[in-house]
Amino acid sequence: MAKQNELAWWQRTIAYEVYPKSFLDTRGQGTGTIAGITAKLDYLQKLGVGAVWITPCYRSPMVDNGYDVADYYQIDPSFGTMDDMDELIARGREHGIRMVMDLVFNHTSEECAWFVESRSSRDNAKADWYIWRDAREDGSAPTNWRSIFGGSAWEWDEGRQQYYLHTFAKQQPDLNWENPEVRQALFDIANYWADKGVGGFRIDAITYIKKPAEFVDGPADGADGMSAVHAATANTPGILDFLHEFKAKVRDGRDIFMVGEANGVSADELDQWVGEQGVFDLLFEFSHTLIPMHPSEVWCRKAEWTLPDLKRALAASQVATATNGWYPAFFENHDQPRSTVNYFQCAGPLAEKAKVLGAVLLTTRGTPFLMQGEELGYGNAPWKSIDEFDDLSTRNQYQFALSEGLDEDGALAACVRYSRDNARTPMQWDASANAGFSSAEPWLPVHDDYATCNVVAQEADPSSVLNWYRKLAALRAERPVFTVGDWTALLVDDEQIMAFERTLDDSRAVTLVNFSDEPAVYDASLVEGLEQLACSQGTSTAGVLRPFEAVIWG
Ligand code: NOJ
Repeated sequence: MAKQNELAWWQRTIAYEVYPKSFLDTRGQGTGTIAGITAKLDYLQKLGVGAVWITPCYRSPMVDNGYDVADYYQIDPSFGTMDDMDELIARGREHGIRMVMDLVFNHTSEECAWFVESRSSRDNAKADWYIWRDAREDGSAPTNWRSIFGGSAWEWDEGRQQYYLHTFAKQQPDLNWENPEVRQALFDIANYWADKGVGGFRIDAITYIKKPAEFVDGPADGADGMSAVHAATANTPGILDFLHEFKAKVRDGRDIFMVGEANGVSADELDQWVGEQGVFDLLFEFSHTLIPMHPSEVWCRKAEWTLPDLKRALAASQVATATNGWYPAFFENHDQPRSTVNYFQCAGPLAEKAKVLGAVLLTTRGTPFLMQGEELGYGNAPWKSIDEFDDLSTRNQYQFALSEGLDEDGALAACVRYSRDNARTPMQWDASANAGFSSAEPWLPVHDDYATCNVVAQEADPSSVLNWYRKLAALRAERPVFTVGDWTALLVDDEQIMAFERTLDDSRAVTLVNFSDEPAVYDASLVEGLEQLACSQGTSTAGVLRPFEAVIWG
């Protein structure tokens, strides 16, 4: 078993996702800035954060809020300048915090100079940098694949008289990784940022970079006669060869980490993706985020799940990375609804639910990845109309729900429950106008609970979610058992309690949390001989958990 001092810096730390558009606006424009992140480094440091994953802030038309990159070597003017970014990287290091850049390498924006050139003719120097195909004889798209954001995954280009493939929105054309020049251009970008001193990379949508040799129709899986592009292209054999090259040309020899976003890779495939033989240091694997959702990922369909299902999904990744690779623990990111809503099936105070999830994240084995605002225990926002949403996938899910026969209220309810915009509302810093996020009207509505749910208010309240997170972050930093210790699931079939044990040499710690609104009983001998290190509701009695109580023994 590795000792604390044998772990890399990114294994010992806490990572924090900043959605820069919603973090802090230092320019009075209604959208956040890079300087806004620099201004909050003290706040992040107090939370024990050592790595900040910044979602894309490169020049972009912002069709998908930066996941449509026009120029990977420039900062979008709405966020500031390259000088602001250099300043953030430098000031961050003074705070012991390293920046993690988001590399969107499956696709670019249609405004990227590469695509502009590629679409200009069939014989230009970049003609083959994207996935171009002729129409079928009747003029229709080459296959019946449906893009992840809805509609055909093919878009007709008048100039080339060909279709191009887009796994996501039509403004996000997919790159052709088969072309070695494309791969080298992407590795050059990564090296440019690594040379600037960032601490690592989060690699977007990585499972889609390799396309199958033959493009064929998939079985229709919806009333539109289409077939999800994911089924046809995710995790195509040969993908790991590209990624080994990526690792060799970017990662090897550097003190950084790479975390892949790998929708479509399951826990039992992790050994090929992470660790010594793998291609990444960590992998976001999504089986647990899919539990509170219908398996089709259609928001208006009903999800049926129990706590043991969630525990099994979490444990599978945890166990798969026990001796090889490392586990990124997360409940939230900018593509998920708020976890206080997502992972509970009963009513109860959000703050107590947030403490339950925080206890799991900060005491489990792996690097916790927090989404901005998660440490304050946000709920979903009280959206009143579909027009308030910005996210293109939310609008698509709304239309899909109507096409499935739901009325407008039903379709809206599905979006309120699952929309990605729930995670993207502005950060709530204080009780002043716009929650202290901006002096101008924010690009997305601020949650209407901001007068009480904000950083200043929670700093002053010893029983707040923020102070619970700070307390557990300190505990994690002090006690090696929480970073290096082995992890074993306890009470796996219990319908109310999630529990696990950490062990290192003679130390042992046990985390027990109650996901339900009823008291939950367990065998007190599980915690015999241990002290109570933290309890979310005062002091806990061994053998019983109050509703939504979280307790850590050690
Ligand atoms: C995954 C990102 O997390 C998501 O926000 C984005 O829309 C897609 N990839 C496309 O880049």
